[in-house]
Amino acid sequence: MQLRDSGVPVPSPGNSDYPQAGRERMILPQPIASQGTGNADPEKSMLRQLSTGAVFMMGDNPALPRMPKAPKLLDFFRLRFSDITFRHLLQSAKTALDAGQEEKIVIACLLHDISNGALLRTDHGYWSAQLVAPYVTEEVAWAIKYHQALRYFADESVGFAYPDAYLSFFGPDYEPPEYIRQAHDEARAHRWYMTSRLITVYDVYAFKEDWSVDPEQFLDVIGRNFREPKEGLGFDGSGSAHMWRTMIWPNNFL
Ligand SMILES: [Fe+2]
Ligand SMILES: [Fe+2]
Repeated sequence: MQLRDSGVPVPSPGNSDYPQAGRERMILPQPIASQGTGNADPEKSMLRQLSTGAVFMMGDNPALPRMPKAPKLLDFFRLRFSDITFRHLLQSAKTALDAGQEEKIVIACLLHDISNGALLRTDHGYWSAQLVAPYVTEEVAWAIKYHQALRYFADESVGFAYPDAYLSFFGPDYEPPEYIRQAHDEARAHRWYMTSRLITVYDVYAFKEDWSVDPEQFLDVIGRNFREPKEGLGFDGSGSAHMWRTMIWPNNFL
């Protein structure tokens, strides 16, 4: 048996296909997912269970689809990302493609919210940019980082208004914090401003539940604009390899 983060035991195969075979594998929720939620911290009670032979989960979790040994970008899309992020990224890239945008815009749209898929939402522009920075141009990573701030500020020259979605997400009186204002000002004055701004333009049309976009159609764009490491994402020693590994094994104790 293993314990999911709800504390409810779920069956786990007692065979050697998975690490720690035959033992109860406990999953401690990530600290950042529990802070401020009011949920009880189960760490102490889980530590007590070690005396019964239970262990903390390390390695593949049979509750998740197994990743290939050398995972590529689309493996994360298919095997790890939440349905909403999967659809949103593909719809956003497809809208940019159909609008005749250059490939740097299409790849930026395809990756812009990537950290929301299976890693972290908070400051998602910054996390997403860091995750992909070793594999894309500096301009694409820059555009991804700054799109987070640009979303809060209208630009009538390209028909971008403050998003209706943000009015309902955050309430009509919400004011973005100072660091977001500063990032917006920096981006406005930068030569790559429009690359980042266009991400926000195609963002708006990419929240449709009834539109499935096949990820395979982006294989060529990915091939030309995303340097897939031969060792696989997570195993190439890049500055963000640990972030990809965290998505492969999100339940590892350490
Ligand atoms: Fe975003
Ligand atoms: Fe988005």
